[in-house]
Amino acid sequence: MPIGRELASTLIAAHGSPLYAYEAAVLVERARRLRACFPAENVRWFYATKANANLEILRRVRAEGFGVDAVSIGEVRAAIKAGFASNEITFNGNNVTSAELREVASLGVHLSVDGIPQLRRVAELGIANSVGLRLNPDIGAGHHHHVITGGPDAKFGAAPEEIDEALAIAAAAHMTLDGLQQHIGSGILETAPWIAAVDVMLKHAARLKDLRFVDFGGGFGVPYRPMESPFDFAAFREAIAPRLQAFRARMQRPIEFRFEPGRFLVAEAGTLLVTVTSVKRTTRHTFVGVDSGMNHLIRPALYDAWHEIVNLTRPNAPASCVRVAGQICESGDLLAVDRELPTPEEGDILAIRNAGAYGYSMASTYNLRPRPAEVMIESDGFARCIRPRDRLEDLLGP
Ligand code: LLP
Repeated sequence: MPIGRELASTLIAAHGSPLYAYEAAVLVERARRLRACFPAENVRWFYATKANANLEILRRVRAEGFGVDAVSIGEVRAAIKAGFASNEITFNGNNVTSAELREVASLGVHLSVDGIPQLRRVAELGIANSVGLRLNPDIGAGHHHHVITGGPDAKFGAAPEEIDEALAIAAAAHMTLDGLQQHIGSGILETAPWIAAVDVMLKHAARLKDLRFVDFGGGFGVPYRPMESPFDFAAFREAIAPRLQAFRARMQRPIEFRFEPGRFLVAEAGTLLVTVTSVKRTTRHTFVGVDSGMNHLIRPALYDAWHEIVNLTRPNAPASCVRVAGQICESGDLLAVDRELPTPEEGDILAIRNAGAYGYSMASTYNLRPRPAEVMIESDGFARCIRPRDRLEDLLGP
């Protein structure tokens, strides 16, 4: 049940405004929906920490049988702190330093290298007996060009033509290439690019004689706009399961298949609650100012992302077309552009929906404004603070 007016007022009274609020039941339902997708195909699910790295969220995800995908030593440490064993963590770092690679490997976490230069470095450092290789399958997809991570313009992965060289580098360093990994993009609502990329991956994975796993990355989208349809998991399963089964039969050994969903687990579980600070009418626009902004939810400013906004306080007020603006000193600090809303007034609470993924995790302290607190709401409505609001003293430094 999405957070309504009464609960929102109670939460804000207890934890302050703005506030990130997550519904545990939604997270658990999404996790189970994913795991039910491939019950018999030796699939392991790794939650992409970057979507929301709150330790309580990591713990919940672990309780649902997920591992985690980490991309920095910080995310690896968060996962360990949340209780994940090193063999439940995958690492897919991009442009990482030798020191970071060394530290991650020393914690017993398996590395997937991002291409030939990183593979050479791991070989030189002598820090791994086996590594995975990220492949750019030359297929990309996603809700915005910033989040398309496969194809000719992407900085990620090795080209399929580089696999032989990778095998030679690994062999010379007495390492095995035991996995192939990809991530073609984020916020994908169609199954077609997925299926095409899976085919490319399986074709090339068959060339690795020490192959143990094939990791297809994340990217399952969620509908943000009312007219968007949810990802069709039934069609996805129908297309992918036979391919995985045929591949295993062909390889004649137990290959593990992996996915790394982030957004799908947490996006719809999260709401950013904000309070209206002012309503200003200019010659052109009505600016509804709120006590938050691009510092807490950068997706609208960075990707033109659309988040549903609900006026919880005044749902039946006459509607008008408004711009919801944050507190940051930039004109681009808009959470919604020309949106029909029941006309807000000062003090109203607005709910910004689907903010659980890439909301808090991309938040900043720009303009020296603290990041909000985060709370977890249980099925019985009980809410607990899972990270306090930043303290200004900490932001100011010594
Ligand atoms: N695996 C790898 C290697 C990734 O780079 C990503 C996301 C994922 C998994 C998880 O993707 P997901 O299932 O969440 O789509 N900040 C952007 C999204 C950037 C995603 C980057 N990589 C946004 O707010 O839309």
